[in-house]
Amino acid sequence: MNDRILQLFDEHPDAYVSGEEISRALNVSRTAIWKHIEALRQAGYEFEAAPRKGYKLVNKPDKWNVTELLAGLRTKILGQKLHVYGEVDSTQTIAHNLVASGAPEGTLVLAETQTAGRGRMGRKWHSPAGKGIWMSLVLTPRIPVYFMPQLTLLCAVALCRSIQKVVQVDIGIKWPNDLLIGGKKVSGILLESSGEDERLKYVIAGIGISANLKLEDYPAELRSIATSLAIESGADIVREQLVQAFLLEFEEMYALYLDKGFAPIRLLWEALSVTLHRPIRTQTPTGIVEGIAESLDDSGALTVVISSGEKVKIYSGDIEL
Ligand code: BTN
Repeated sequence: MNDRILQLFDEHPDAYVSGEEISRALNVSRTAIWKHIEALRQAGYEFEAAPRKGYKLVNKPDKWNVTELLAGLRTKILGQKLHVYGEVDSTQTIAHNLVASGAPEGTLVLAETQTAGRGRMGRKWHSPAGKGIWMSLVLTPRIPVYFMPQLTLLCAVALCRSIQKVVQVDIGIKWPNDLLIGGKKVSGILLESSGEDERLKYVIAGIGISANLKLEDYPAELRSIATSLAIESGADIVREQLVQAFLLEFEEMYALYLDKGFAPIRLLWEALSVTLHRPIRTQTPTGIVEGIAESLDDSGALTVVISSGEKVKIYSGDIEL
């Protein structure tokens, strides 16, 4: 039914189509039409509604252009095996399943929308259709399980640097791996792993970039804490270009890490951090820690100097700036 409604709008470009006309053409009630229009809105289609005139289709969701993406991809491995979907529950789940059926390192899963996008600490990730970059990357690094936090920080560095190259925004990393513009979150990273005898078997790096969301694409509770690259830069983002830039940056950082270890990545992370040398507050299993974020250690933990002068390490969780 949604396809038939869209076909009708295609036949009337830039014009209002009245409810009555749709109802007659498709032989359904006005209420049914309203429900279908709402479902299409959820899927990223934008309609204007005017009393007595009906509906006008003003914007269609962006679709991944796979040919363009692959044509401009300069990586050797990352993203060379590409799986692109319309709607999925989570690209993470798809990537785990692909690994189970033999997908190699570098396999990338992209989706237009996720119905159950996962965030850190059991949170949901808002993933409206055609508006963002919702992707999962398969990695098989030969490193111990306890080096995972380093990989997460590496991912944040690669993401931050690639965004800086493609979009004119002042972006920084909040420990451990949130990307912020003007204090609002624009991108998040979730690493999920499968280990064997303390060695990582594989890692799925899940990356969410709020690229082209407009204010009205956010639920009310996110509007004061989240933003998008388009809102902040005032220009639409060519998603394919940003994915290409990210994969290339990640491939270079990853090679550097596997060759030289975490030290160079740590320096890059520190240069991009909006957390260090600032007062922070966080909830730990043993209580609230408040102090000045001083440095990042070799394991990726944050060292915080509290009022007594004592240094406390934070290994996981969220911090408030
Ligand atoms: C966070 O900041 O909480 C992490 C968010 C990670 C979201 C991405 S979107 C693509 C991938 N699929 C998911 O379900 N989650 C990650």
